[in-house]
Amino acid sequence: MGLPWLISLLLLGPWQSPGSAVPLQGQYSSPVGQFWHVTDLHLDSTYQLADDHTKVCASSKGENASSPGIFGDYMCDSPYQLILSAFKYMKDIRQPASFMIWTGDSPPHVPVQELSTKTVIEVIANMTATIREHFPDLQVFPALGNHDYWPQDQLPVADSDIYSAVADLWRPWLTDEAITTLRKGGYYSQIYKSTSSANPLRIISLNTVLYYGPNKVTLNMTDPGNQLEWLEDTLECSRQKMEMVYIIAHVPVGYLPFTENITAVRTHFNERLVKLFRKYSNIIAGQFYGHTHRDSIMVLLDEQGNPVNSLFVAPAVTPIRSVKETDSNNPGFRLYQYKPDDYSLLDIWQYYLNLTEANIKKEPHWKLEYLMTKAYDIDDLRPGHLYDLSKKFTDSHSQQFAMYYKHFLVSFDDHVGCNKQCKINQLCAIQCLDETSYVGCINRGVL
Ligand SMILES: *[C@@H]1O[C@H](CO)[C@@H](O)[C@H](O)[C@H]1NC(C)=O
Ligand SMILES: *[C@@H]1O[C@H](CO)[C@@H](O)[C@H](O)[C@H]1NC(C)=O
Ligand SMILES: *[C@@H]1O[C@H](CO)[C@@H](O)[C@H](O)[C@H]1NC(C)=O
Ligand SMILES: *[C@@H]1O[C@H](CO)[C@@H](O)[C@H](O)[C@H]1NC(C)=O
Ligand SMILES: *[C@@H]1O[C@H](CO)[C@@H](O)[C@H](O)[C@H]1NC(C)=O
Ligand SMILES: [Zn+2]
Repeated sequence: MGLPWLISLLLLGPWQSPGSAVPLQGQYSSPVGQFWHVTDLHLDSTYQLADDHTKVCASSKGENASSPGIFGDYMCDSPYQLILSAFKYMKDIRQPASFMIWTGDSPPHVPVQELSTKTVIEVIANMTATIREHFPDLQVFPALGNHDYWPQDQLPVADSDIYSAVADLWRPWLTDEAITTLRKGGYYSQIYKSTSSANPLRIISLNTVLYYGPNKVTLNMTDPGNQLEWLEDTLECSRQKMEMVYIIAHVPVGYLPFTENITAVRTHFNERLVKLFRKYSNIIAGQFYGHTHRDSIMVLLDEQGNPVNSLFVAPAVTPIRSVKETDSNNPGFRLYQYKPDDYSLLDIWQYYLNLTEANIKKEPHWKLEYLMTKAYDIDDLRPGHLYDLSKKFTDSHSQQFAMYYKHFLVSFDDHVGCNKQCKINQLCAIQCLDETSYVGCINRGVL
């Protein structure tokens, strides 16, 4: 899709209310580009409305479902109905989008012995087919998640049946060069050919599961799959060719916001990634992740403390929580708006389904949860503005932080709130991606 939708965006008048499902071109003087982000679909095809609540879904692992309805349950992964309703809504609101990023995790959270290489491939094939049925002409850039493998998390550094299967499944979206590296190591890069911008955008889809703590295959490796070397070469090449870059991956860099001192990837890999992203921050226009199932932001600061990159972790479609957690998330997906000249990020349209309400009404009323610039009163999502916002969060009664925490759980109703330590962990995770700055932040502990 190209120019026709840009023109239709320009034709949108200022009379459209911000609550409507259609983004305004509004405050931006030049046209905007848009793309979808979906993540963590986690299909559980065993989901059924059984009277015995321990039998509703395999993904509750013998626990009782909490309040099961046709669109799912907070103790379960996604029934197919939920996933269908998400893509149907995305299609029905006719948002002009130039592409979609899909940051992985299709299979359900069930014990290892309940899946196999074959069933994992079947679920990924099903999700791929479902996306293509709804968006036959849309360019999709996928990334692999820790559940997109059997046994889970053990993504290897060489050819495997699953890498081969996804290389075949995703062939309609990817170039031969991308398919070649995907088949070998589960990662690739590809140019997005824009018709509305003179400048090329390179999507780099990283296999960060190679750096994930539970991945035993890569335990003693310094550069699993030679991905770090490839990443640096790719970034260097993009710099020379004046390309802008979006990084997409499943497991994010940085620290997990809901706990303390824990990086999402192994600490030494996190340090190396942060160093690389700092070095090439001037060509990286955005970074997009999934995995945590929660909605969060990070701002990468350079060594002098200047904000240089905006990073986004999108919330999951699956509403599942583990029995140890008190909070969950409503199902969500999002649309980003960017400036076509330099691909800098302008806004997020975050959509969600109030699962409780959908089950009561037996209808999936997906709606806009928030528009990022409006919700936080910021001009756009460039690093400086996100950093200023994160500084406002530090005020002890920050309304913006209360809103951020509500969004973190995708407006999940019964959340217990965020006490002082919770807030410190959240803020340190937003602003401090490397070990030295993070530890300093936690030890200062002042807000
Ligand atoms: C599930 O709920 C039933 C009925 O309330 C109860 O008897 C059973 O112990 C519960 N099972 C678990 C695993 O909590
Ligand atoms: C995907 O899985 C669902 C649930 O098991 C099934 O109903 C549907 O037919 C499958 N779709 C495809 C395209 O395989
Ligand atoms: C990694 O190194 C440790 C210590 O040298 C060794 O015990 C372990 O077997 C190695 N693991 C793998 C997967 O090679
Ligand atoms: C996190 O690390 C800091 C610095 O090393 C330490 O002071 C703090 O106690 C740690 N917190 C937890 C929960 O481990
Ligand atoms: C979700 O729906 C329930 C049931 O209708 C309602 O009580 C709750 O307030 C809704 N939550 C939000 C965030 O709108
Ligand atoms: Zn997941």
